[in-house]
Amino acid sequence: MQRIAIFASGNGSNAQRIIEYFQGHPKIQVTLVLCNNPDAFVIERARNMHIPSVIFTRHDLYHSNHLQDILSVQGIDFLVLAGFLWLIPNYLLQAYPSRIINIHPALLPNYGGKGMYGKRVHEAVIQSNDKESGISIHYVNEHYDDGQIIFQAKCPIEPGDTPESLANKVHDLEYRHYPEIIEKVIEPSADGASLMELR
Ligand code: GAR
Repeated sequence: MQRIAIFASGNGSNAQRIIEYFQGHPKIQVTLVLCNNPDAFVIERARNMHIPSVIFTRHDLYHSNHLQDILSVQGIDFLVLAGFLWLIPNYLLQAYPSRIINIHPALLPNYGGKGMYGKRVHEAVIQSNDKESGISIHYVNEHYDDGQIIFQAKCPIEPGDTPESLANKVHDLEYRHYPEIIEKVIEPSADGASLMELR
């Protein structure tokens, strides 16, 4: 069994979708949710789905062994960021080489970087008059939204679209693709598709 920990900071709708997707999966399971915000709805979602969650502070993540100890004790193999807003520290990048992935709600390399998350991304895209947006799933490195892109999917931006309506279209793409891409990254040959085909 490959054990996933999901890092999330807020609502957690992607986290829920991912947990549901892997329920009953023969080779992959979500066993932990890690959250930096004690008020985040993702904690309630995890509780409702009987997945343990851990709330941690900046100090826990950046200045102690707390997180690494938890991940090690829980036997976590793979880290998935789903609406997680803090930078992943180097010790985790080294502990999980090519085993930490993130989703970004726009077509990177545009509209990424520090402070670009959630609604702010969609506001910037709408203001740009671009004709399309989408999602980017990428490996995590030491910079925000910068690691190698694994998969992108697009949606049109139509006249009258608002940051909210665009967010809904992007969420649909996220729910449809993120769990499957996670599965293919962890088990590349599960259905005969290689990661190269996804790029
Ligand atoms: C998602 O749209 C995700 O792509 C985005 O935050 C949202 C979280 O929604 N992540 C970023 O912007 C990271 N830069 P959710 O909590 O309902 O899954």
